[in-house]
Amino acid sequence: MLYYLSFISFITLLLVHFFIKSWLKPRPAIQTPPSPPALPIIGHLHLIGSVLPKSFQTLARQYGPLMQIRMGASTCVVVSDAVLAKEIFKTHDVTFSSRPEFGSSEYFIYRGSRFVMAQYGDYWRFMKKLCMTRLLAVPQMDSTIDIREEEIEKLVERVTESTRDGNPCDLSRQLTILTNNIACRMAMSARCSGSCNEAEEIHELVKLCLQLAGKLSVGDVLGPLKMLDFSGNGKKLVTALQRFDVLVERIIKEHELKVIDGGDGASDQKKDLLDILLETYRDATAEVKITRKDVKSFLLDLFMAGTDTSSAAMQWAMGELMNNPKAFKKLREEINSVVGPNKLVKESDMPNLPYLRAVIKETLRLHPSAPLIIRECAEDCQVNGSIVKAKTRVLVNVYAIMRDPVSWKDPDEFIPERFLESSGERIGEHQMEYKGQNFRYLPFGSGRRGCPGASLAMLMMHPAIAALVQRFDWKLKDGREKVDLTQGSGFAAEMATPLVCYPITV
Ligand code: HEM
Repeated sequence: MLYYLSFISFITLLLVHFFIKSWLKPRPAIQTPPSPPALPIIGHLHLIGSVLPKSFQTLARQYGPLMQIRMGASTCVVVSDAVLAKEIFKTHDVTFSSRPEFGSSEYFIYRGSRFVMAQYGDYWRFMKKLCMTRLLAVPQMDSTIDIREEEIEKLVERVTESTRDGNPCDLSRQLTILTNNIACRMAMSARCSGSCNEAEEIHELVKLCLQLAGKLSVGDVLGPLKMLDFSGNGKKLVTALQRFDVLVERIIKEHELKVIDGGDGASDQKKDLLDILLETYRDATAEVKITRKDVKSFLLDLFMAGTDTSSAAMQWAMGELMNNPKAFKKLREEINSVVGPNKLVKESDMPNLPYLRAVIKETLRLHPSAPLIIRECAEDCQVNGSIVKAKTRVLVNVYAIMRDPVSWKDPDEFIPERFLESSGERIGEHQMEYKGQNFRYLPFGSGRRGCPGASLAMLMMHPAIAALVQRFDWKLKDGREKVDLTQGSGFAAEMATPLVCYPITV
């Protein structure tokens, strides 16, 4: 009995000792990601220059691939290498599949309907499925090939005109007209010629909305003070959105009249994106019932996400080709050997033009149109040994990742050859590493939230660049030898100086 009681006491003491010890043991503090020394109020603003991805790239060299940055009242975590990008986009894909709200959100009359900014949930999933199965799927792309080819022919005509009058050609403008006209015609058969230039009006409004939203998002650094809208940009954004709403409502009514008149009997092959969206809007049995506001908001998102991104990438491609005459010559020789010098290159020629595809890939590596991919963390999550707290904004700096010397040889050089199958860099399109699993090449993002318009972007960019290289030689303004490839400021990835040059018909 005594033996038994001693045993019980011993065990009890042991357990008490264990609990007290573990209770008193200092718990490791939750580590947030490393951060540069901050100043009161402004945080790290003094360390950040006008080109955000570059500034973050420089800071990451000192503070590591996962760092916390505070710009005034706005805090974010910046990811700067391929290993951690994989953690965000693959390992913790669902946790990082939402986007945060920005300073501009309050002024978006389509707030709550925005696909691009939506939280990861039923609405986003439904719209994404609609994109991948219908709106941006292969049959819809195939049925609109004539639109893209006509618009590229018009681009060649406009550039040819500028060779006749001897004026320099503003390629930035010409390429923006191209992508905007294609988007307007594919999305809602909007007219873009004659007196009724709906496409131009849409472009003007979309550009204004992008500019104002950008300015308001920068205002996030003010925290709650931003609500005072000192600059008046919030009001201007509401006005621009209301004008867009009126214009699109008119186009929707025209589409609806077409249905009443019995004109909707066309097969899927003839429908524009608005026809498909309105069909979904009318579908009482749809998994998610979308509203008229959702339809308009989705169109705005497509324009905002799809037009300037693609035209900026084409400007960079032309700039790089002009600065690299050997690559330019090699590309023209490839086109002429496949298509011949007389016939204009077409979409159907693309599978036979590997160097062209490599040129576009290399351009997007050096100049991604969305250099900082923005996500939000849904719940506390451990990344690289640090805790990223729920609701934290996460910026994946794909600009830095695609120029990381650990992953890329001569990372700042324009070398399209690295994307050819024969290259030792093993990033050729049929090699496993290219198939989105390496996370060192991310121009279109990755994971479930990756860009749904990547194929359309490629369908616009490949033949347009091919046509401009096939049909024209290019001379720079003011006898300059090189295009100024300095990057513009802010989040966007435009050139600091618009690409204006003299085309010479060949
Ligand atoms: C060169 C051209 C383009 C580039 C470089 C580009 C790049 C991107 C990137 C990096 C993202 C964020 C992806 C992520 O979070 O992982 C994105 C999102 C998106 N892009 Fe693109 N994009 C381009 C063209 C287009 C086009 C032509 C369209 C549509 C017509 C489009 C529609 C979208 C949409 C709707 C989203 C939001 C997706 C979501 O939040 O689920 N993009 N794009």
